[in-house]
Amino acid sequence: MPEIYVTDRKGTEFPVDATNGFTLMEAIRDEGKFELAAICGGMMSCSTCHVYIDENWQAQMPPMTRDERELLEESSHYEPGSRLSCQIEIKPELEGLRVTVAPED
Ligand code: FES
Repeated sequence: MPEIYVTDRKGTEFPVDATNGFTLMEAIRDEGKFELAAICGGMMSCSTCHVYIDENWQAQMPPMTRDERELLEESSHYEPGSRLSCQIEIKPELEGLRVTVAPED
């Protein structure tokens, strides 16, 4: 069970236990202390699971699909480290991953 580090919208970082095989969105949402709505439940149609991946981890993320990129680019808070957390599967090698919850659109 990798431990990841999630920074909330107020700038406070918390450790989160993430379960292999689940998504980053599920790990953050199910922790309960972050304002991550994830309205569509991972169907890639809402972008309310938007996070910023720490720059030291961006190269280890799975490639982004065109649909994910298009959805993210519609956000007024889009940045180079932006990802939809529902599109990132938790794997053992993500131990220590750092992400920040993006502001609400
Ligand atoms: S939960 Fe809706 S796009 Fe990720």
